[in-house]
Amino acid sequence: MPDIGQLREEYINDGLSREQLNASPIEQFRAWFSQAQKAELPEPNAMTLATVDSEGQPWQRIVLLKAYDEKGFVFYTNYESSKSKEIEGNSQVSLHFPWIALSRQVAITGKAEKVSTTESLRYFVSRPFGSRLGAWVSQQSKVISSRNVLEMKLQELKAKFKDGEVPLPSFWGGYRVDPETMEFWQGGANRLHDRFLYKKQIDGDWEIARLSP
Ligand SMILES: Cc1cc2nc3c(=O)[nH]c(=O)nc-3n(C[C@H](O)[C@H](O)[C@H](O)COP(=O)(O)O)c2cc1C
Repeated sequence: MPDIGQLREEYINDGLSREQLNASPIEQFRAWFSQAQKAELPEPNAMTLATVDSEGQPWQRIVLLKAYDEKGFVFYTNYESSKSKEIEGNSQVSLHFPWIALSRQVAITGKAEKVSTTESLRYFVSRPFGSRLGAWVSQQSKVISSRNVLEMKLQELKAKFKDGEVPLPSFWGGYRVDPETMEFWQGGANRLHDRFLYKKQIDGDWEIARLSP
């Protein structure tokens, strides 16, 4: 087994130039996201969400990106989970997409805000029956005595909602992260990687800076 200190990949690709960049980071994200899909990366919409708690302690976990546009990046979760409590206390969050097989990463910072109930409902009804039940079953982030608690609750809910009509739980829904900065990182040969940081200006325009790798 090689020493992990010696594990390194040489990134051989065309790099990223300023001319290739879209003036809009959302459009740039769209291009990269579609390339990640074409490359058949596993779960390209899996992103790490970082939040900070009331003591300044950062926490991270993966959530799935379910929609994005100029208004922001949307994920769904339990509104009583640890992450949601952290967002209620401090809405500044960070998202990170690790598209390692393409020698790429995208890092986003911004403010998270709940989406409307209508928007959550629209997404909720599109989920498979099991996922809709799952939202009801889990008191996300709470301590439970055993897995059995979940299995029993699931059976109970299956019986309760056997007609397939599962209502949207009041404690479940989406957050939209309105981006303030977006960094696109492309690995290059000899560790001369390309990094471009988009920063939203007060007038809504995006300023682009090249960062040293
Ligand atoms: C691939 C993957 C996708 C996930 N997607 C979601 C998601 O979309 N929403 C969610 O609430 N949790 C998702 N999770 C679980 C979270 O990572 C996390 O464990 C959970 O939300 C509780 O986080 P918290 O206690 O920090 O609030 C996912 C986990 C993995 C590994």
